Amino acid sequence: MESTNWTSVSHFILLGISTHPKEQIPLFVLFLSMYTINMSGNLVIIMLTISTTHLHTPMYFFLGNLSLADIGFTSTIVPNMLLNIFSDTKTISYIGCLTQVYFFISFAAMENFLLAVMAYDRYVAICHPFHYPVILTRRLCVQMVASCFTLSHLHALLHTLLMTRLSFCANNQIHHFFCDLYPLMKISCSSTYANTVVIQTEGVIIINGALTFIIISYACIISAILHIRSAIGKWRTFSTCGSHLTAVAIFYGTLTWVYFQPLASYSEAKGRILTVMYTVVTPMLNPFIYGLRNGDVKAAFRKWLNRIWNSGLK
Ligand SMILES: *[C@@H]1O[C@H](CO)[C@@H](O)[C@H](O)[C@H]1NC(C)=O
Repeated sequence: MESTNWTSVSHFILLGISTHPKEQIPLFVLFLSMYTINMSGNLVIIMLTISTTHLHTPMYFFLGNLSLADIGFTSTIVPNMLLNIFSDTKTISYIGCLTQVYFFISFAAMENFLLAVMAYDRYVAICHPFHYPVILTRRLCVQMVASCFTLSHLHALLHTLLMTRLSFCANNQIHHFFCDLYPLMKISCSSTYANTVVIQTEGVIIINGALTFIIISYACIISAILHIRSAIGKWRTFSTCGSHLTAVAIFYGTLTWVYFQPLASYSEAKGRILTVMYTVVTPMLNPFIYGLRNGDVKAAFRKWLNRIWNSGLK
């Protein structure tokens, strides 16, 4: 009998963050609140970047798209997880699980590429300020976002197809709150060698490639800033990068921690907590990192609130 490449399970059981009955309600409340903050924060950013002419610059164009990716990213995971808390069976179909893997990876990769593109935007703005409008034309911005989109979907397709090669036998319990690569590979009964190799080559290239690009951009930015004479000028120039740098540090910090370790040493409990960090907490923080530190966004937000307030009084 030759049936090694066939799945014999039709569904998986997502055990969630905790199986402890007493922790279910607090977890539900916590995640629902984070999800609500996440959605509202990112929707406000998207609305502001679209409706405020003042914010029609490449930086906000990319930021709007980063917010879209943030929304997609958490929406692939959190609503399903919240429903799961109150489900008795906690099942997810095989197709549902792979769909989640696909979208989760594509949105994560989108975020990765967008952060690199945003570093390039800061590099041109600071190191070639006079050529900025000529280099970063609307056309180039659209092309860059479109390339990020295409690359992320190809990347997601590769990992999802590799996942379909695995077979799952008796064990269909996933010790996680969504279908992610490592937890699925852990319960597979076939060899995960190819999957591991691809994660640790292609995955590493994509993440490290973007990260290296960001580091080089910032090396140029910092050397340009060091040439500015006045301390105020130095600080003002650097402050336009502060938000981006914070977002980069949080995203790559947690991602590296979760994925780039050998599968054998992957600890489920630690993995779950770190995954909560970058799937739910980081996307929730992005609008605040950009909004609170940024005078333009704050001004646009205040104007928008005023408009609502005034139209409400009429
Ligand atoms: C994101 O990118 C697309 C296509 O490049 C663009 O049309 C859209 O306006 C951007 N979205 C936001 C919210 O800025």
